[in-house]
Amino acid sequence: MLPVKRLRFLALATPDLERQLAYYRDVIGLAEVGRERGRAFLATEAGQLAIVLEEGSPPGLCRLAFDLSPALDAEETARALRDAGLSAERVSDSAPGCPLALRARDGDGRVIELHAGPHFHDNRQPLPGVAPLKLGHVACHAPDPAATAGFYAERLGFRVSDWIEDRFVFLRCSHEHHTVNFTRGPDARMHHLAFELRDAAHMHRACDILGGQKATVLWGPVRHGPGHNVAMYHRDPDGNAIEMFYDLDRMTDEALGFWDPRPWHRDRPQRPKTWVGLPRDVWGLPPSQAFLEMHRLQLPDAS
Ligand SMILES: [Fe+2]
Repeated sequence: MLPVKRLRFLALATPDLERQLAYYRDVIGLAEVGRERGRAFLATEAGQLAIVLEEGSPPGLCRLAFDLSPALDAEETARALRDAGLSAERVSDSAPGCPLALRARDGDGRVIELHAGPHFHDNRQPLPGVAPLKLGHVACHAPDPAATAGFYAERLGFRVSDWIEDRFVFLRCSHEHHTVNFTRGPDARMHHLAFELRDAAHMHRACDILGGQKATVLWGPVRHGPGHNVAMYHRDPDGNAIEMFYDLDRMTDEALGFWDPRPWHRDRPQRPKTWVGLPRDVWGLPPSQAFLEMHRLQLPDAS
């Protein structure tokens, strides 16, 4: 098993690199930290690479990059790869500051990259736009979410945090409630990606910035049930769904087995569970018709 510790970045294919770059730089508020033919690299204000844009079609997720436990040396990593039954290639051109990564495929054929060692880009100027704290999680469709969850648990060390019925699974690789999610669908395409904000004031500012851009807020702010994050969704220029959130559940101590207590939890203690039926959200209006149409596969019970 290869112990994944965090999400490093997502690579998105786009048919219009300049338009996507302008959006992620000026509206989302990421710093352009590198540029090469057909690719652009964007980092958070804290200097963490978050989004790699790559010219290509169709638009959408083309790679997920994770950080491995730094406790593994090269020999242990090679052994863990063999034990996990993963055939990986070494790549040296993944992104600036990522001199070497292992590239493999998950059970559904998504390209995953495994990185070792921290790297920070030295961008210390305040950024325009929303300027999220970090890239928080990614949700994808999966034909068999239980099988995909099994792959991420057995091969990459993820733990199951919650299920919505038998169709949407939330997985964690750290104290945070989820880093990857999988929802039942006919293929492996992305459902949404999510950026973490600081607090309610930051969410308010994000909504004002999107409103100023005449971007349609498709859903939220709403406090979800699973994860209890306050979330808001809109679309980027390519149509990818983007969530912004804060207040995600945390399990500071795995041995306790419950999420750090919060006053909005209905279960005390709030443990990982299967959520059945509606309403699931703690507060907030249901998703807009535009959100539901964007995720037709989720009808009639989008999350
Ligand atoms: Fe999400």
